[in-house]
Formats: sequence, C-alpha cells, structure tokens
Amino acid sequence: MRTQVAIIGAGPAGLTLAQLLHLEGIESVILENRSREYVEARVRAGVLEQGVVDLFTEAGVGERMAREGLVHDGIELQFAGERHRIDMAALTGGKAITVYGQTEVVKDLIEARLATGRPLLFEVDDVRAEELESERPRVLFTHEGAQHVLDCDMIAGCDGFHGVCRPTIPASVLRTFSREYPFGWLGILAAVAPSNDELVYAHHERGFALLSLRSPEISRLYVQCRPDEDIAEWPDARIWEELQIRLGLPGWTLAEGHVLEKGITPMRSFVTEPMRHGRLFLAGDAAHIVPPTGAKGLNLAIHDVRLLAEALTEWYGAGSERLLDSYSTDCLRRVWRAEHFSWWMTTMLHRPEGDDPFEVRLQESQLRYVTSSRAAATTLAENYVGLDTV
Ligand code: FAD
Ligand code: DHB
Repeated sequence: MRTQVAIIGAGPAGLTLAQLLHLEGIESVILENRSREYVEARVRAGVLEQGVVDLFTEAGVGERMAREGLVHDGIELQFAGERHRIDMAALTGGKAITVYGQTEVVKDLIEARLATGRPLLFEVDDVRAEELESERPRVLFTHEGAQHVLDCDMIAGCDGFHGVCRPTIPASVLRTFSREYPFGWLGILAAVAPSNDELVYAHHERGFALLSLRSPEISRLYVQCRPDEDIAEWPDARIWEELQIRLGLPGWTLAEGHVLEKGITPMRSFVTEPMRHGRLFLAGDAAHIVPPTGAKGLNLAIHDVRLLAEALTEWYGAGSERLLDSYSTDCLRRVWRAEHFSWWMTTMLHRPEGDDPFEVRLQESQLRYVTSSRAAATTLAENYVGLDTV
C-alpha cells in the first residue's frame, strides 16, 4: 500500500486532518485501532470555539452542527452561594461558543470521510511507524488477520495520549512537561432537560461541579472527585446528591433524570516538545493534554491539524518546507496559552488538596475579581471563546 499522508488515529484530530487534506487533493489513509461503533460512542468534550466551528463549516462538515449545535453567548461562575454571568459575546466583540458533543463531531467527520471513498480502516492492530528520519517513512500494521506495510511521504500521529507515535520518537530529542492534579472529574450524561440555559462552573467547599448539556433533552454534569476513585463507589443517587449540594441555590433546583453514561477522567497537564520528529508530526492529545476545566482539549487538536494541513499543502504545492519546519513552534504557542488557561481555571475552581485555607481565600478573591472587573472577565472570556492570535 502507498499513500501521501498516513494518519494514525481516527479521533477529531486525525479525521479533521484527513478532510482538510482531501479538500486540497492530498491522499491519506487513516488507521484506527478501535471499531467505528466504539469511536462514535466515546463521550468526551462538548464545547467548540468559534474558530473551530468556522473551520468545520468551511471544511464542509458543519451542516448538522449548524442545525443541532447550541450557541452560547455566556457562561456562569458560581461561588459563595451566588451565580455571576460572564457575557462572553459582549466582552469579545460578539464571539460565542457552540455546544456540540465530540461524539457528533466524530460521526459527522466519519460520514464525510466515507463519502470521499478514501481509506479509513477500523480495528487495525500492531501499528508501528518506522523510518521517520528517512524520506521514505512507513507504517506497519495488521488488519483482518493480514500484515500490511503502508509506504508514505509523511506520518501524522493523531493517536491520542496513549498512542504509539509519541513513544517512537527517541527520548533524547523529546522534552516533556507535565503536572498531575490531585483530582478527577466524574462525568455523567443524563436524560433530563438542562436545568440552566448556560453552563455553570461552580466553586464549592465540597469540590467543583459543572452543569453542561448536549441538547434540549440531555444534560452533561461533572463533579470533582479523587483521580483514583472507584466508580462503583458512586451510585447514581450519590452523584445527584452531590450535584444538588454543589450546584444548588435557594429557589433553584437541579432536575434529575436517568443516567445514560458515567465515567471518571483523571486530570493532567502535559506537553511534548517538539511536536515533530523527521517525517512524523504529532497532533492533538498525542502531543499535549490539558485538564478539561477550560474546555480546550478538542479545540487544540483542531488548531494543530489546521496548521498541519496548511504546511502539507504548501509542501506538496510549492515544494516549500517553511511551514513544516515551523509547525511545532507555531502549534506550541497556542498549546502553552491553553495550558496556562486550563491550569488557571482548574486551580481557581477546584477544592485544593488538604483544603489549604490560604489557597481557598486566593480562589475566592480571584473569582470575585473575575466577576467584577471588566478587564479580568475579558481575560477569561477571550481565552474561553478562543484567541485569533496567540
Ligand atoms: P483522541 O480523541 O484521543 O483520538 C485518538 C484516536 O487514536 C482514538 O480514536 C484512538 O482509539 C486512536 N488510537 C490510539 N492508539 C492507536 C493506535 N496504536 N493505532 C491506531 N489508532 C490508535 N476535552 C474537553 O475539552 N472537554 C471534556 O470534557 C473532555 N473530556 C474528556 C474525557 C476523557 C475520558 C478524555 C480521554 C478526554 C477528554 N477531553 C475533554 C479531551 C478531548 O476529548 C481530547 O482533547 C480530544 O479527544 C483530542 O482529540 P485527538 O483526536 O487528538 O485524540
Ligand atoms: C464540557 C466539558 C468541559 O471540559 C467543559 O469545560 C465544559 C463543558 C462538556 O462536556 O459539556
């Protein structure tokens, strides 16, 4: 087998890259180790920045998102028993976010890919990227019991945090930066109309909670928990009880419903530098992880592959390596902005380890500042909706 760009991973990064390359007439093969059903059902992020919405629209995969996505002009921050609205549109010259689940993004992208007739292989095994430093890199894999070699010009490592691409880069050329947080998020999807029109990020002495949604009928909710917590210790009744306490306000109740899905996500910050080695380019979670509090993970993955598609287009079209050479540096500017924003939102909103009273007072002060100063609120708003330049 031969192609121009071998793409490892059919998450948002790999699928979007394939679509952007297709629009430029560049061939690719996508290799995914899970099944289509599994990939389409994996519940994760839900918030799309304006720039990402625009990119999906321009790439021809925005039709259902335009119909079913929910545009939000603001979010609410809750602390000390009160909610405060951050009017993102007013603070950013009219920008908004769109709530549209990652599951739906992935379904739309898979449908678009299949319509192109270009290869997308599910349930591949033993994927190995080789000869990265040569001009003839290749990917070895097995599919339906047979071994294959995929020769290519370039390899895109879009295989997420636990993928195989990043570990193939020699440790001597990689630098990694990381931080583990002493908490996780327990997330549920529930069959109940969202109890609030906008997202609520709640600071509470029992821990952080987040009210989000997927549709007018489906709520998405999270509570801070320990990273190593056993989900068996969280029967549905306990989750609702905790959500009621942390999100509750006099005169407002959280409507409860059937829990459709639940899971625990550990929280970490992680960055790999550089994001390229020879002919292997890392994109999305394969190169960096943010804690979910800033809603940046999915958005960053899309920004990476937009730059990668531009760089590959210039290389195939004009023979210039300029954008390929600057790919890592160009991505990392936005990555580090998102790392800082996500770390800042996380430390401002979560119950600190040991309930350190000094830290709690700092959080309360910062929350009051962010909800009372236009300058501070603008800092949150412009990062949340996504910066045009970084
Ligand atoms: P992924 O979506 O991880 O896609 C990588 C793909 O590669 C997967 O399909 C995987 O199966 C495949 N793959 C892995 N190894 C191989 C291999 N060896 N060979 C072939 N294929 C392989 N972000 C938010 O903004 N908000 C959230 O609420 C949120 N919740 C999250 C919850 C969880 C449990 C996780 C893990 C992440 C969450 N994120 C969230 C982050 C967000 O979902 C990711 O940033 C986003 O999925 C990144 O997309 P990606 O395409 O880079 O990686
Ligand atoms: C959702 C996830 C996030 O990480 C976030 O900050 C806001 C919303 C969500 O899944 O809806």
